[in-house]
Amino acid sequence: MKEGTNVKFVDLAAPTAQIRKAYLAEVDKLLLRGNFVLTREVEDFEKAWARVVGTRYAVGVSNGSDALYLGLRALGVGDGDEVITQGNAYNASVTAIMRAGAVPRFADIKRDTWQMDVHAAEKLITKKTKAIMPVHLFGQPNDMAALMALAKRHKLRVIEDCAQSHLGAFKGKMTGAWGDIGAFSFYPTKNLGAFGDAGAVTTNDLALYRTLKILRNLGQDGKDNHVEYAFNMRLDAMQAIALRLKLKFLHGATKKRSRAGARYDRMIREARIPVAPAARDPRADHVYHLYPVYSPEKSRDRIRSELLEQGIPTGVYYPLPVYRQPFFRGRHDPCPITDEIVSGIFALPMYADITVQDQRRIVAALENIFLCGKLSLPQIVI
Ligand SMILES: Cc1ncc(COP(=O)(O)O)c(C=O)c1O
Repeated sequence: MKEGTNVKFVDLAAPTAQIRKAYLAEVDKLLLRGNFVLTREVEDFEKAWARVVGTRYAVGVSNGSDALYLGLRALGVGDGDEVITQGNAYNASVTAIMRAGAVPRFADIKRDTWQMDVHAAEKLITKKTKAIMPVHLFGQPNDMAALMALAKRHKLRVIEDCAQSHLGAFKGKMTGAWGDIGAFSFYPTKNLGAFGDAGAVTTNDLALYRTLKILRNLGQDGKDNHVEYAFNMRLDAMQAIALRLKLKFLHGATKKRSRAGARYDRMIREARIPVAPAARDPRADHVYHLYPVYSPEKSRDRIRSELLEQGIPTGVYYPLPVYRQPFFRGRHDPCPITDEIVSGIFALPMYADITVQDQRRIVAALENIFLCGKLSLPQIVI
């Protein structure tokens, strides 16, 4: 390392310390009560989460992958159906569609915002299309007004993948409240993260809510009455306790992320270096789960190793589009823009408490890489 101490890529220690004592006290109460499954702690969190998102209902589940699967099942998606998602969807978004028995179709992304191209999505609609699954990747909400209008025109259901967009909003309405279903992950590094795996499904529809509660609990409608072929995908009480306590800090932490994101945007623009973040949709409240930037192909790995040399870790979300992963053997729709963007993105450190000093140091390090001639690249325009 050439310079000072390492910058952190994410920081889970500070948000954990904020609730550690209260968490231990609550868990102790649970242990003394000796009642562990689908307890009042789970219900309390579900009510609180529905209030935050602005939906009538929230159902706590095992993780974000299962939230997507359960949402699709509740919508009646199954064998032979098609679900349209975006080219840069995460693996779990796509495998949830496949687990439900449906075929994923991939709409390319827009070159500016890196979000679903609604026109590309419309071209994929067939008689088999049942639902659209926008993924609010990196924390920037998709154009939900256009997507909902498209779904209405073609009588399709909408399931939002909100794993990276807690408190993100489009035209003032939260992600997870636009579609028929919102699916959230509370994986520890998410903007609201548990102390292990956890997730939730949100909806305004009473019938969907009732079905979701049955589906997450081995298909039971009342004890031992298994009306659906379904599995154990319940939210654990100890995770519900952590989430409820952390929720108190989510709004404040999100504001800090947004400020840090805007600061990076400005610093990178002023530095005039050939890396750039996605364009920001002015109608969307971006919650900066990650801070990815794009650099033309073949330079990413060199930039990342130069930064690491200077104690600055980066990440790649995700190195390959999911349809190019070895497991995916199906036919896929061509997504040339996804292919191009995915090959050149890497994420800079981002978390609520990242300091201005660290951000300055990161952007200065980037500037140095280019100014010192270690890399000279054509100016890119996004
Ligand atoms: C966009 C997206 N969808 C789905 C998931 C799956 O969530 P989980 O890891 O909780 O199963 C994640 C998180 O890993 C994600 O980032």
